[in-house]
Amino acid sequence: MHYQRPVRVFVSRRLPVDPAAVLPDHEVDVWDGDRPPTAAELRERCQGADALLSVLADRIDADFLDACPMLKVVASFAVGFDNMDLEAARERDVWLTHTPGVLTDSTADLAMTLLLAVARRLPEAEDEARTGHFGPFAPTAFLGLQLAGATLGIVGMGSIGRAVARRARAFGMDVLYTSRSPIPVEDREGGEPVELEELMARSDVVSLHCPLTPETRGLLSADMLARAKKGAILVNTARGPIVDEAALVALLEQGHFAGAGLDVFEEEPRVHPGLLERRDVVLTPHIGSATHTARRAMAHMALRNIAAVLRGETPPNPVPGSRSPS
Ligand code: DGY
Repeated sequence: MHYQRPVRVFVSRRLPVDPAAVLPDHEVDVWDGDRPPTAAELRERCQGADALLSVLADRIDADFLDACPMLKVVASFAVGFDNMDLEAARERDVWLTHTPGVLTDSTADLAMTLLLAVARRLPEAEDEARTGHFGPFAPTAFLGLQLAGATLGIVGMGSIGRAVARRARAFGMDVLYTSRSPIPVEDREGGEPVELEELMARSDVVSLHCPLTPETRGLLSADMLARAKKGAILVNTARGPIVDEAALVALLEQGHFAGAGLDVFEEEPRVHPGLLERRDVVLTPHIGSATHTARRAMAHMALRNIAAVLRGETPPNPVPGSRSPS
């Protein structure tokens, strides 16, 4: 690709690496506000831009792409791409790219963190120690779930699901999983494939690792959640809208679920008020990939994808189904 003018890249958030240093031949403009750009501000800053590095909260749809006709690539700083309209990008010959692989371990670590924190009632216990209510040793206080011997049900056995399965096996858990497509035995991490209904009924902990698609939106409906074992724990580091949040709150209130560890929510950044006051719930603000290692790797990967497209090459990490190499 040959340009008669400076090639412009807009980066919609501050990154943990300096994008101008990675793309020294390009004119790089970075959103420097403490709040995210509004949809209108995003469009305005993308006027005349050849490439956009976006995040999950930026909606990339037909209207946006029509408003920014110079864009040749939108490189998302995320592995999930439910914020992007693949067909609209295909129709306009715009590349969409994402960051698979590099955040797998960090996200799996957070799923285990939430699992352990809920299983061992960390918020309640920490609160007692911190607030001067540290009472005498009581054999019946703070009883939680031992991981060894318990069953973990993984919904979505992709790379993050498998990384969680490996960790859970190291803790002595039995693993069940659901998957869209069959997984060879050597890649199952010792897990047993089952249907979702069976997974809900047999698991002490259910952990979600599927992408958000029309098929998985509301997958854990009120009916499906009610199939969980009494006293089960739900962990969600995938996407909020996979779970009917109001139904989860009701089942927590009834004591059907022993607790939940949630990093993602139905209407981020809003958290259901019924979750906020519960001490059997651990809430984090969508930080699955928030480690120095993962976030730096995500930034480099997104910038590499931009550089490739601007050189006229096929990017290394296109969003599956968004555009095929011509
Ligand atoms: C992803 O990569 O999809 C995360 O949810 C955002 O960091």
